[in-house]
Amino acid sequence: MKIRKAVFPVAGLGTRVLPATKAMPKEMLTIVDKPLIQYVVDEAREAGIEHFIFVTGRNKGVIEDHFDRMFELDATLAARGKKAEMEILARDQPEAGAMSFTRQQAPLGLGHAVWCARDIVGHEPFAVVLPDELVLNTPGCLAQMIEAAARLDKNSNLIAVEAVPDHLTHQYGICGVGKRDGNIFEVDGMVEKPRKGTAPSNLSITGRYILQPEIFNVLETLEHGAGGEIQLTDAMIGLAKKQKFYGVEFKGERHDCGSKAGFLRANIAYAMARPELRDGLRADLKKYLGK
Ligand code: UTP
Repeated sequence: MKIRKAVFPVAGLGTRVLPATKAMPKEMLTIVDKPLIQYVVDEAREAGIEHFIFVTGRNKGVIEDHFDRMFELDATLAARGKKAEMEILARDQPEAGAMSFTRQQAPLGLGHAVWCARDIVGHEPFAVVLPDELVLNTPGCLAQMIEAAARLDKNSNLIAVEAVPDHLTHQYGICGVGKRDGNIFEVDGMVEKPRKGTAPSNLSITGRYILQPEIFNVLETLEHGAGGEIQLTDAMIGLAKKQKFYGVEFKGERHDCGSKAGFLRANIAYAMARPELRDGLRADLKKYLGK
């Protein structure tokens, strides 16, 4: 199964990190020195993705600008001999023509956002990557999933899953676990936010998916679910009646950057992974921990 396209839903309101997201997209929040959206595009490029589809909305134009060339900046950096900075800008940019932008006119849920990409995806399997979730690992989470997909039947769907503490399963989408082969298992049922004590496992659905195009037919027919939104999990539950779903327990540390505490933790984790920042940050943190 060849996965060429990835969908990045970036049309949400980011209410959990207000007021940061009042005038700025959540996906442009910075971890160390790069916006979230750049991390996930880099992860997708590393995984071999060739086309990057952004589902945007109001106030999200700066995401499109981020991947554009800035002639004035390039010219100024060149005039000042700032070669390293010029290389960073050139490195971060996907090839011309490799990006598409479509619009979700109202934030009607993740499922609806994915459905908005249907014409650009066409009839082929594709990845969905949520930019507010980062996984710190090499190879990246999506590369691990694409590698797993290559070993499965070509009509398979895959979900990245992560173990959560048993007493917190009611806050997540949870997978039932069927036949297992190492870190990959057949999904035996999915349930969104199970009541306490009823979860089929502690494996939660995270923000990386590989889906078959038939998901669009299911999304098309879905009623608005929890919170008046069209949920991707509901569509996956529908598609699971006809196609196989596999869970992939990926390697790496996941960071939910859409919450304030998760965002701060991610900044520390990513900074500590940078040799040029690590020692200084460790000393600074010690100072604050003593307070
Ligand atoms: P989240 O639920 O984490 O994002 O969706 P949110 O709704 O923006 O955040 P909160 O809960 O209000 O703080 C995960 C991803 O899906 C996108 C978001 O932009 C985010 O990247 N999304 C969500 C959409 O594109 N459209 C939607 O209708 C909902």
